[in-house]
Amino acid sequence: MEKILIIGAAGQIGSELTMELRRIHGNENVFATDIKDAPYYIRESGPFQFLDVMDDRHLIHFVIRNKITQIYHLAAVLSGNAEKLPLQAWSINMNSLMNVLEVAKMVEDVKKVFWPSSIAVFGPSTPKENTPQITIKEPNTVYGISKLAGERWCDYYFNQYGVDVRSIRYPGLISYKTEPGGGTTDFAVEIYYEAIKNKKYTCFLGKNTRLPLMFMPDAVAATIALMETPQDEIYFHTGYNIAGFSSTPGEMADSIRKYIPEFEITYVPDFRQEIADSWPDSIDDHYARSNDHWSSKYDLEQTTKIMIEEIRKKI
Ligand code: SER
Repeated sequence: MEKILIIGAAGQIGSELTMELRRIHGNENVFATDIKDAPYYIRESGPFQFLDVMDDRHLIHFVIRNKITQIYHLAAVLSGNAEKLPLQAWSINMNSLMNVLEVAKMVEDVKKVFWPSSIAVFGPSTPKENTPQITIKEPNTVYGISKLAGERWCDYYFNQYGVDVRSIRYPGLISYKTEPGGGTTDFAVEIYYEAIKNKKYTCFLGKNTRLPLMFMPDAVAATIALMETPQDEIYFHTGYNIAGFSSTPGEMADSIRKYIPEFEITYVPDFRQEIADSWPDSIDDHYARSNDHWSSKYDLEQTTKIMIEEIRKKI
């Protein structure tokens, strides 16, 4: 029986992954943790505790005491926030990963680790269309540098110590349960909330900024599929490319107008424009699809339909 630790369970990915893992492995076997309070459905459906991943002693005690067999480390400072406090973001993103890798190396019960990478590992010199799995990676953001370094460390721990760490380079994730915070792709969630609440949105990226995006159920399914793949079928312990759909703020606004015809959008690009411009337009994910027997199910239109229905119910 698996005992799963989720670090960052109150976040955008963590809150949804926790519920899916509880459904699969049993509520009591999935230990949700964070340094902030979690949504009620996380707190009430199974164990939830305060855990700061930067505190390596607390982390190792927690893992040993609860006989943890898998760790999902989802806590991070996202791309926009990381540019405001580069050294702090570097320290949090890297040291938290190193603490988790060290625990996985030291504690024999821990058999698998999941850590999210990102399209931010790519940079301005990377081919932008159908960005391959293996290609030039010269990220120029603190977040991207930390994700690329993190990928290299994951691969190192696998090769040197046999730590079975697996990772996905998530595109911008769109979800209605928990909002993201401080990322460059946050616009792809904010646009729906603002369209429903105020019928207008000021986007911090330009109209034609194309980025790889994905609806959260696809991301959760890809993550579970990767973690369930037998170890000898895992080619990469760095991070797998995965692709949902590619879209621009202008195209997203058009798709929202099918439900809210009076929706107005204006474009006032800020510092995040440069970050977005350094990232790919679209992603080649054939390795993830063939390795994990996974494929994306939601395009922009399906995502918009569900986002609008669910956010309307919520507010
Ligand atoms: N969504 C993240 C961000 O914008 C990218 O991984 O920072």
